[in-house]
Amino acid sequence: MSLEQLLAVIPPGSPDETLARQVNFDQLPAHIAIIMDGNGRWAAQRHLPRVEGHRAGIDSVRDVVETSARLGIDVLTLYAFSVENWKRPLAEVNTLMMLLKRYIRLELATLLTNNIQFRVIGRPEELAPDVQDELEIGIRKTAANTGMQFNIALNYGGRAEIVDAARRAMAAGVNPDDLDERRFGEFLYTAGQPDPDLLIRTSGEMRVSNFLLWQIAYSEIWVTETLWPDFRRRDLLEAVVAYQKRERRYGGIKSAKSAKTATAAESLP
Ligand code: IPE
Ligand code: IPE
Ligand code: MG
Repeated sequence: MSLEQLLAVIPPGSPDETLARQVNFDQLPAHIAIIMDGNGRWAAQRHLPRVEGHRAGIDSVRDVVETSARLGIDVLTLYAFSVENWKRPLAEVNTLMMLLKRYIRLELATLLTNNIQFRVIGRPEELAPDVQDELEIGIRKTAANTGMQFNIALNYGGRAEIVDAARRAMAAGVNPDDLDERRFGEFLYTAGQPDPDLLIRTSGEMRVSNFLLWQIAYSEIWVTETLWPDFRRRDLLEAVVAYQKRERRYGGIKSAKSAKTATAAESLP
């Protein structure tokens, strides 16, 4: 995608346009991962029940998915429900699941139009059958799409993922002598996808909450005070522009060549 694709949906003269023009399209993050946080606080500020924050957060999801696809991001991963989120009241969990089903049903056409491939990472097999069915439809119908890969992390835990990968590696009969970081990565939920270059967390919390623990080894982290239901295209563009000013060293030293373009693999000893 391109600046033109992005400008097509941005009102001329808006701050979003200024930001869009600051993006270097030759140096986009290949993978953006987002910890969508602050829905409950957003609702509390308005004296509304927490679930209203989750409902409002759907508009942010739509905006971010469309903007990422237009920008030309290869992979977008949104953290929607952690393995720890089962600790929440049943009514809240049920509403989250209902909103998820509705999102997939209503957005499927848009995902198809935008050539987006929908995927789930986590342990979906532990979700209710009706939720699994809806996810399955979304995955199957978008499987042939060749544009942005959109992962939704659902019943996801970073440690659970590493344990699952170890189990899969053992079940596949991998010889311990052959196991290295690259081979292990092939058993993760994100097999075949680049690691996140940019990790965004909303609502100001300075923690990773068990998200993509393996994959974020060298991700650039950007935290905003903005609560998830208020997060829009402008915030995403701000994050991308800030990311492009970072210098990535991967444990090496600043190189004359440009550390920004070095990759983790290149900098391995
Ligand atoms: C994020 O918002 C949504 C999920 C974790 C599902 P929260 O519900 O965690 O909102 P806060 O952090 O309580 O404000
Ligand atoms: C992280 O948010 C999980 C998701 C965004 C799905 P939480 O609100 O669950 O994280 P903590 O409890 O503040 O660490
Ligand atoms: Mg939270």
